[in-house]
Amino acid sequence: MDKHRRTEHQWALVTGASSGLGRELARQLACDYGIQPLLVARREERLWELKRELEAACGVRSEVLTTDLREEEQLDEVFRRAVAVGNVSTLVLNAGVTYFGLHQQMDYRQFRHMMATNVNSIVRLTQLFLPHLTAQSDRTRILIVSSLAGLLPIPYQTAYSASKAFLCNFGLGLRHELRGTNVSVTVFAPGGIETELLHKSGLAARFGGSVFNHRADQCARSALRALWHNKGLHVPGVFNNAVLIAARLLPRTWMTSIIGHIYADALRELSRPFAQPTADSIHMMR
Ligand SMILES: NC(=O)c1ccc[n+]([C@@H]2O[C@H](COP(=O)([O-])OP(=O)(O)OC[C@H]3O[C@@H](n4cnc5c(N)ncnc54)[C@H](OP(=O)(O)O)[C@@H]3O)[C@@H](O)[C@H]2O)c1
Repeated sequence: MDKHRRTEHQWALVTGASSGLGRELARQLACDYGIQPLLVARREERLWELKRELEAACGVRSEVLTTDLREEEQLDEVFRRAVAVGNVSTLVLNAGVTYFGLHQQMDYRQFRHMMATNVNSIVRLTQLFLPHLTAQSDRTRILIVSSLAGLLPIPYQTAYSASKAFLCNFGLGLRHELRGTNVSVTVFAPGGIETELLHKSGLAARFGGSVFNHRADQCARSALRALWHNKGLHVPGVFNNAVLIAARLLPRTWMTSIIGHIYADALRELSRPFAQPTADSIHMMR
């Protein structure tokens, strides 16, 4: 039995559990840590499928909370329903969307939706849950999924990169405010992960299948280890850390220019003209 399996009466809210990194985080919390996940995303059928899988494979209860995180009233509802289920001791704030293309061609509604998902939902959910977390006698944890793009400017993902930079500063600031309490905050900043996000944004045409990408399960393992070891900021992988070291040594504008050239090439490689709406952007505009 895993050393963390003392936790069967605890729940973890996992946003973005219908796919990619979030689905793996929910799987590992349930199967390796014995924590019962509250599965949050819009695609309900996928959440029910995961719930059935976790209950059969790991014998751990889970609940489905179908939610559109862009809607503020739905965040209040998630909080109300989650704490009615039980003791929520872990928040995994992972859901996110990206945009790849020229900033000036991004539909403003798409920007609002990206900010509402990547930023506003995290600010609001932490505010709602903090009294519940601090009221518990045991340690409670918040994992905020940012990105390497939050530590370096990424041209052609300009607004996404800025939304993730918000999360790095927000998470580290919140961690400091909560020192001396029972709540720890970890910011997780991965580089490329092989998930739907790469395909929906068009980034996969250039970056999909790269040897530098992580698998979602590897990345989830690394994130949860960092969370349980109470790390403030965790960047997984040798390559991503080497990029960060280079970024610290080079002038910021040079690094931005190098990254900008790589991403401009990637955009040119797409068969579509610059920044036509992606499948996800169409989904978000509905
Ligand atoms: N993939 C990468 O290369 C990479 C790199 C660095 C950081 N990240 C970050 O990792 C996190 C997970 O991304 P991923 O790669 O696993 O992408 P993914 O496979 O596309 O998963 C994104 C998840 O977010 C959920 N989501 C999106 N909008 C939502 C909304 N309005 N309401 C509720 N849920 C919503 C999606 O569920 P529904 O569509 O069912 O709602 C899905 O479960 C994101 O924050 C991303 O920025 C990814």
